[in-house]
Amino acid sequence: MKVLVIGGGGREHALVWKLAQSPGVKKVYCAPGNAGISGIAECIDIKADNIEALLDFVKYNWIDLTVVGPEIPLTAGVVDAFVKEGRRIFGPDKSGARLEGSKIFAKDFMLKYGIPTAEYKTFTSYRQAEEYVRLKGAPIVIKADGLAAGKGVIVAGTVDEARDALKMIMKDRAFGDAGNKVLVEQRLKGEEASFMILTDGKTVVPLAASQDHKRVFDGDSGPNTGGMGAYSPAPVVTESLRTEIMNTVITPVMKGLRRERINYRGVIYTGIMICDGKPYVLEFNVRFGDPEAQPVLSRLEGDFFELLKATAEGRLKDVTVSWKDDASVCVVLASKGYPGSYEKGKIITGLDSFKDDKNVVVFHAGTNLNNGETVTSGGRVLGVTATGKDIRTAKDNAYRAVEKIRFEGMHYRKDIADKAIKKQ
Ligand code: AMP
Ligand code: GLY
Repeated sequence: MKVLVIGGGGREHALVWKLAQSPGVKKVYCAPGNAGISGIAECIDIKADNIEALLDFVKYNWIDLTVVGPEIPLTAGVVDAFVKEGRRIFGPDKSGARLEGSKIFAKDFMLKYGIPTAEYKTFTSYRQAEEYVRLKGAPIVIKADGLAAGKGVIVAGTVDEARDALKMIMKDRAFGDAGNKVLVEQRLKGEEASFMILTDGKTVVPLAASQDHKRVFDGDSGPNTGGMGAYSPAPVVTESLRTEIMNTVITPVMKGLRRERINYRGVIYTGIMICDGKPYVLEFNVRFGDPEAQPVLSRLEGDFFELLKATAEGRLKDVTVSWKDDASVCVVLASKGYPGSYEKGKIITGLDSFKDDKNVVVFHAGTNLNNGETVTSGGRVLGVTATGKDIRTAKDNAYRAVEKIRFEGMHYRKDIADKAIKKQ
């Protein structure tokens, strides 16, 4: 079987890595891929949002399954275009992708189907939004409605900060049309967890829980990023919390999708805030989390290709999923300046150090090949991912590996997984 993975970040490296281990997979392509992916798959020079070129590639190369990594092609309708041409593809169609593509759609959906989430109000007028913020006071959360590469959410500590956020989104139009509407939301306090499921619209297969580290600096300080590291399992998601998430979040989501006649096939990622032991939904994503996919897929047993193919074909009930007892920790190495602006093209050394280490995989996120050398090409550059018998061992293995890697300006958090270790 031949597989195409769309995307070129750390998540896509993990998807390619896991798919390549399936016995039935003879060849993996990735569009556009990155330096790390090119070591295990053939990278194709097509951008992730060039749906027409992707479809042509799949037709002419007899691809059996396409797996979509990032959200942009999903919200742009890549699945609709492929299905129309009879092509097998993993991911939700445009109607399902609205759960991530419009935060207001997601919040209205949650309200309609009784899914616990923060109180909110929607605005198209700056003046009315500002008035509401003054009325409610801080802390308060401002969110651009549309996709904003993870930068459209501002947790404001003061009314002034909230006003600045509204100005940036609505007046300066920092995210273009994605900021035509904004959400003003109650701030929730608690611990976050990432809970992903696979569904073919009928059957739900929960994946192992994980936890991301959104802030750039240790101790959850500094601005939000795409994610500076993740681990799985997440002890904060106890057996009883997991049952509660399934009952109060996932079951109503599935009911809502059916009622709205959305035939959802793919991943549903729920960002959960646990407040006083109860789960509240912060956001839905319609794809695997990045960097959560790296530790989660490191722990997944069995045939990943069959799992994704069964999801795409609506046969998920035939498949069982199991997990390694080992824990997995992913530490993201970022470029100097990230999540702000950063330079590219820095030479990365030390990547060959782990070729024979079964516990360590270095997933590439923003890397390129330049005259045979691997260089940085993004804000998040690498996701050093290690397994171990428990989270502490996995963390030690990951940081031991990190020590061997160097590039100019490299920075990373030193406290990935500490929250879980403290709980043990
Ligand atoms: P989102 O993309 O909506 O998940 O928001 C990104 C991050 O902002 C989340 O992971 C949280 O850390 C934070 N956040 C979003 N909504 C809230 C909220 N209502 N209360 C507190 N923090 C939030
Ligand atoms: N790590 C959070 C996300 O993938 O959106």
